[in-house]
Amino acid sequence: MVSLADKIVLAYSGGLDTSVSIKWLQDKFMADVITVTVDVGQREDFGEIGKRAKEIGAIKHYLIDAKEEFVMNYVSPSIKANALYEGKYPLVSALSRPLIASKLVEVAKKEEALAVAHGCTGKGNDQVRFEVTIKSLSPKMKVIAPVREWGLSRDQEIDYAKEQGIKIEPKKSIFSIDQNLWGRSIESGPLEDPEIEPPLEAFEWVKPLEKAPEKAVYVNIGFEGGVPVSVDNEKKGAIEIISYLNKVAGKHGVGIIDHMEDRLVGIKSREVYECPAALCLIEAHKDLEKLVLNRHELFFKDIVDANWTWLAYSGLWLDPLRKDLEAFINSTQERVEGSVKIKLYKGNYRVVGRSSPYSLYDPNLATYSILSEFDQASAQGFIELWGLPTRVAHSMLSKLKKGRE
Ligand code: ARG
Repeated sequence: MVSLADKIVLAYSGGLDTSVSIKWLQDKFMADVITVTVDVGQREDFGEIGKRAKEIGAIKHYLIDAKEEFVMNYVSPSIKANALYEGKYPLVSALSRPLIASKLVEVAKKEEALAVAHGCTGKGNDQVRFEVTIKSLSPKMKVIAPVREWGLSRDQEIDYAKEQGIKIEPKKSIFSIDQNLWGRSIESGPLEDPEIEPPLEAFEWVKPLEKAPEKAVYVNIGFEGGVPVSVDNEKKGAIEIISYLNKVAGKHGVGIIDHMEDRLVGIKSREVYECPAALCLIEAHKDLEKLVLNRHELFFKDIVDANWTWLAYSGLWLDPLRKDLEAFINSTQERVEGSVKIKLYKGNYRVVGRSSPYSLYDPNLATYSILSEFDQASAQGFIELWGLPTRVAHSMLSKLKKGRE
């Protein structure tokens, strides 16, 4: 076997796929494997993960705490862009992949490794996100995707792991989990049948509605420059705010997403997520924008947001268009300051109040009271001109229709 590189840097989660990948890379390429685990808030036992990598055979293990960077440079821009792919998915994995890819490249350069590897299959979006980012940052880097290459079923993989003496937790192996601060994605097993409700065991962050508290709770989220800065009038860092909302909204049964998703590779798949903080923050942020931006800005921003979301979802994080779109988005966010009150109750997250120093809401104009400054008499002329093209076209079409009868 020709050795592709004598050192391979592998993105290591501690799960089955990447654990088996350590052995497979060693066997196939006779190379040393260096593992990298990036902490993006997945709340795992990182000590255990490092130990496991070494036990399986990694010559060196890196643990990189990238939580702050993840929130500042990936999650925050996604809040500003109200990023929900296909109206539902807050880009949990999509946001973490370019960051993890950039850390892989960093380690590979430091270790003078010529190849990096990731544990993605050939059916998902993550492979695209990793590889486009890696190749953009380091065009000559070789990328190896063991899981895509070895062609083993999950059962065969478990057998291989057992043969190689790799310990696996059977409970964890029913679902394929990817999680970080921004949410938890749950795939495979019983979730592959889109007709069937996800079993309770799939969820860890969100309480079943039946067990959620009987009493509603209110949370006040403060924003500055389009990003959350406080909860209930107490200043907090973004990581703390997100962790807090994951807990409190999750406790109230808020955060489960169950939808049909169109993957970049063309597959329709049933995707299930738990994203309590992400759903609340995006809902609150969108609501505040509606208070401070005018309708022309809102209309155009929807288009920009959708394009930003698509780039992030489809692996094109490093495309210059993202920065171009962010130039527009950031210019609108200067006024996205204020506070939004959300009511959490048995799976519901509803904005019930909002305020901002940049509010465009003018009670004098909006009130139904007769004392309003809005000149109702001018509405008549407005309607006359506003409806002109519609009236002209409609009467022409009516005449045509009559003529044909
Ligand atoms: N469908 C989601 C996405 O493409 C979730 C992917 C989860 N990734 C994983 N390796 N389990 O972003």
